[in-house]
Amino acid sequence: MSLVLTGCAGSGGEEDRVVYISNETGVEAPLVIPAEYKDKINPLAGDPAAIASGKEAYFALCSQCHGEDGRGEGPDAAGLNPRPADFTDQEQMQENTDGYLLWRISDGGDFDPYNSLMTAWGTLLSEQEIWELISYLRTLP
Ligand code: HEC
Repeated sequence: MSLVLTGCAGSGGEEDRVVYISNETGVEAPLVIPAEYKDKINPLAGDPAAIASGKEAYFALCSQCHGEDGRGEGPDAAGLNPRPADFTDQEQMQENTDGYLLWRISDGGDFDPYNSLMTAWGTLLSEQEIWELISYLRTLP
C-alpha cells in the first residue's frame, strides 16, 4: 500500500485533485502545482538514452530511500514519516503528471502539505537530468 497518495476527488481536472499524506497529522489538502511546472511535458519521454542516464542517477541518488525496485522501501526509508513514494503504483503514477513529477523532484518535500525528507533536487540537478529521472521512473513495472 502506498502511504502517500494523490487522489482524484471529483469529476476530473487538476483542480479537483487532493493530496492525502498518511502521516501522523493525516494532512489532506488540494493539490496545487506551481504554474512554472504545471503544464510542462517531458521532452525525453521514452528516449532510451535518457532512460539509461536516469536509471544511473536513480541508483546513485534515489534508491536508498525509494528502493532499488522503486517500491519505497530502500535502506534509508525506515523511520521516514511520511514514507517514500512507491513508483510501481501504476494508478498513482498515471495521475502524476510530468509537471507534478518535475515539481516534486525539483522542490522536494520541505513544505506544506508534504513536510517530508524528500530532497529538493532542483538546486543539484539540471532540468534535463530531472526529465531523465522521470523517463526512468515511468519504466518501473
Ligand atoms: C531521503 C530520502 C529520499 C531520497 C534520497 C529521495 N526521496 Fe523522493 N521522496 C521521499 C519521501 C519521504 C517522499 C514522500 C513524501 C513526499 O511526497 O514528499 C518522496 C516523494 C517523491 C516523489 C513524489 C511521488 C508521488 O507519487 O507523489 C517523487 C517524484 C520523488 N520522491 C522522486 C525522487 C527522486 C527522483 C529521487 C532521486 C533523485 C528521490 N526522490 C530521492 C524521500 C526521498
